[in-house]
Amino acid sequence: MCAKQVKKSGQDVGTTGHSWDGIEELNNPLPRWWVWVFYACIVWGIGYTIAYPAWPLINGATPGVLGASTRADVAAEIKRFDDANAPIKAKLIAADLTAIAGDEELKGFATSAGASVFKNNCAQCHGSGAAGVQGKGYPNLLDDDWLWGGDVASVHTTITHGIRNTTDPDARYSEMPKFGTDELLDETQIGSVVQYVLQISGQDHDAAAATAGATVFVENCVACHGEDGKGLRDFGAPNLTDAVWLYGGDEATLTESISKARFGVMPAWAPKLSEDEIRAVAVYVHSLGGGE
Ligand code: HEC
Ligand code: HEC
Repeated sequence: MCAKQVKKSGQDVGTTGHSWDGIEELNNPLPRWWVWVFYACIVWGIGYTIAYPAWPLINGATPGVLGASTRADVAAEIKRFDDANAPIKAKLIAADLTAIAGDEELKGFATSAGASVFKNNCAQCHGSGAAGVQGKGYPNLLDDDWLWGGDVASVHTTITHGIRNTTDPDARYSEMPKFGTDELLDETQIGSVVQYVLQISGQDHDAAAATAGATVFVENCVACHGEDGKGLRDFGAPNLTDAVWLYGGDEATLTESISKARFGVMPAWAPKLSEDEIRAVAVYVHSLGGGE
């Protein structure tokens, strides 16, 4: 198969010599404009790889003569925001905790900075909406039911030192006795005090057992949960009369809570967050609705 001349629109054009079923492939020249764009692209491409980071090396890439770096841009951008926020952060640290809510500018900064601290550090336990995880002991931070106190100073202390952790000597601490495991109460006593807790929390219960349970409660529980069962913040002991439960208010869960006790742990944040971040997230949590 050799190339032969074919007539096309009055011009002599060679063929490539390819022919399928009698259809010949003409050897028309590339359009001039296309060729020039093609050359221009090559020139531009070479220029680009000289000017910008391009060729991959073992560690990283050629840097490019213009010194462009998106990573450095981000760092510079972050620094710019940090510098811009430095005065208000200093103000936040110096302010009286209770006065922050009254200062529009400080409050606005603290709640938005606090919201992002919360998303990064707290949401995995307390939920992205701060509603907690019932049944797992992660408290809802939106309601006005507080274990350790809901004023901004108490919230700040709780966050700074954490709860029942082993790392911070100032962590909030209390320990409910394991009434069943340590045989402080027998099964009947536990059964009846469970009925009493069902009663004071307004649920279906066995009245006779609950009456017996009331005595068990007075003798064993009021020191922490209070005479009325509404909880005592000095011990972080929850209110047992409302429908808000850390671990659950059904009979089986109550029996487990009382037999084996609970020991909710929250890390201390002072080692991980700066003081302005702790203050911001405290103000944010306080602003969520349950703040006192
Ligand atoms: C590893 C899980 C975990 C993380 C992360 C965590 N918490 Fe907690 N938090 C808990 C637990 C568990 C409790 C309840 C402890 C108890 O039973 O007293 C708690 C309690 C609290 C309380 C006390 C609530 C009350 O009713 O008094 C506040 C306030 C709080 N957390 C805020 C935060 C903030 C703010 C962050 C993020 C900086 C955070 N927590 C991160 C597990 C966590
Ligand atoms: C030394 C203090 C202390 C004593 C005494 C005590 N508790 Fe508690 N109790 C606590 C604390 C603190 C918690 C919360 C533990 C946590 O947050 O992990 C708790 C949690 C509970 C819970 C779980 C509540 C929930 O929201 O899920 C129940 C139920 C309970 N206690 C019942 C009792 C009963 C009944 C008695 C007496 C037989 C009793 N407690 C005695 C401190 C105490």
